[in-house]
Amino acid sequence: MVSSRQLVTAATIPGIALSMWHPPERIKHGLPTARWPSREEAERSLLFTPIAIGQLTAQQRTWVPAMVPWRASDEGFVTDAVIDWYRRFAEGRPGVLVVEATGIRDIPSGPLLRIGHDRFIPGLRRLTEAVRDASGGETLLFIQIIDFLRINRRPTREAYFGRYLELGQQHRERLAHLTSDARFHADASEEEVRAALLGLEEEKLVHILSHREMEDYLYGYRERVWDMHLEHIRELPRVLPGLFADASARAFEAGFDGVELHYAHAYTMASFLSALNTREDGYGGAREDRVRLPREVLQAVRARVGGQRVVGVRFLGDDVVEGGNRIDDAVYFAGELAAAGVDYLSVSKGGKFEDAQQPKVGRAAYPYTGPSGYECMPTVFSDEKGPFLRNVELSAAIRRAVRDSGHTAPVVAAGGICTFEAAEAVLASGDADIVAAARQTLADPDWFRKMKLGRGDQVRQCNYTNYCEGLDQQHKQVTCKLWDREELDEPDVKLDITGKRRLLPPRWRQ
Ligand SMILES: Cc1cc2nc3c(=O)[nH]c(=O)nc-3n(C[C@H](O)[C@H](O)[C@H](O)COP(=O)(O)O)c2cc1C
Ligand code: SF4
Repeated sequence: MVSSRQLVTAATIPGIALSMWHPPERIKHGLPTARWPSREEAERSLLFTPIAIGQLTAQQRTWVPAMVPWRASDEGFVTDAVIDWYRRFAEGRPGVLVVEATGIRDIPSGPLLRIGHDRFIPGLRRLTEAVRDASGGETLLFIQIIDFLRINRRPTREAYFGRYLELGQQHRERLAHLTSDARFHADASEEEVRAALLGLEEEKLVHILSHREMEDYLYGYRERVWDMHLEHIRELPRVLPGLFADASARAFEAGFDGVELHYAHAYTMASFLSALNTREDGYGGAREDRVRLPREVLQAVRARVGGQRVVGVRFLGDDVVEGGNRIDDAVYFAGELAAAGVDYLSVSKGGKFEDAQQPKVGRAAYPYTGPSGYECMPTVFSDEKGPFLRNVELSAAIRRAVRDSGHTAPVVAAGGICTFEAAEAVLASGDADIVAAARQTLADPDWFRKMKLGRGDQVRQCNYTNYCEGLDQQHKQVTCKLWDREELDEPDVKLDITGKRRLLPPRWRQ
């Protein structure tokens, strides 16, 4: 668990101020020296051996985990840019490609892909057809489906005290006490109280506002799954199984090979699992109760789509934040989800709101900016351990427990896995059944094919400094700094809205 907070600028990106937490040791790690396999060695390897996932078979144990590239339309539809993006990944022919976190509700969500209504199906079908075509049918295409709660931008002082703060008698009492002005008890009008609060020195606000109000003011209002005073939050256990089941049915109608329930990071389902979840309605508190809704959602999806369809879960091996889940919680959840018939378990780490950096006024908090965010996408500015294979011990413990309980669901590891030898070692030691690589695949979507064809010397190695994540944080079209300024004068190159970055990596010319 990481408790201290230290914010540093991780990388210099023209026009992008990327702030994220890094371990205080700030040891700069070099990239691992890669020994790439010959074609024959690759053919014999575990990495390129097929594996069963539910009723399907992935042709290799390579996996591209979900990555939001911010290319959907503002209404959440698949655009040509979304299709180009996944087509390009499919050309590398990974065993499994998981489409970015896609919202299950029919509500405006900015340029996040959505699947909360049938009108999204035609676009998603175009996407599955493009991927099938580009991978020659070799890549299984899954989609990650997500629910998230409301989060507001950090307000200005004027907006917070002028409008957002729900003024109560307690504020009046405290203000009267603090200012020794008895008028604030009752006589002063609401406008006068608000004006007085607005005029208070910043350090005095802690004497007036509750802890939660202070957070709303400093970080922006954010709903929690344990906000039982809100009806729609109380009702989540009644609403979410149906929403996830409907979204899954649409995914299969659109031609996806599987759905991945997003139970990781900062979002609704991970918050139900979290040890911080204090709901007292049977869906919070003890582990058995925290896993109840995630299990019910899985069961509802299964009941809707049938036993032949692949339904997997991405969840956290460790929440990282103080008071959150640790590996023993994750091991317990894995056992429960495996018993409930999950087809695979993809393990991630951290990525929480609780330790996120304070956003600037007018911006919303982002869950990958604190220590838990670092653990989710570790960079080369690290501690002794470094970013490579950083989270494999989590998948190892989870896989052991799942196997010990007699279940066969494959376990997927992620986090700084970027060489053939590292991937092969993870598989050989039984630390995971499948190896996921997000940023390495963003740096070079062809790297699987290059390895397989014995052309590993041509792999463009990710440098793990998170330029891509800086773009993601700002909801800008995600690209990689190793290729987005290359060959800009190619005939049909597509550029981002600034006209300075290419949106897709150049073709691999063998
Ligand atoms: C730009 C970007 C977007 C991401 N979006 C998602 C997402 O939508 N869902 C998810 O579960 N993880 C997401 N991740 C996390 C990755 O799937 C992966 O777990 C993480 O980057 C660690 O793997 P790596 O070291 O191979 O990059 C994202 C990562 C990046 C860099
Ligand atoms: S994928 Fe590209 S931009 Fe992202 S960390 Fe790797 S090298 Fe940097």
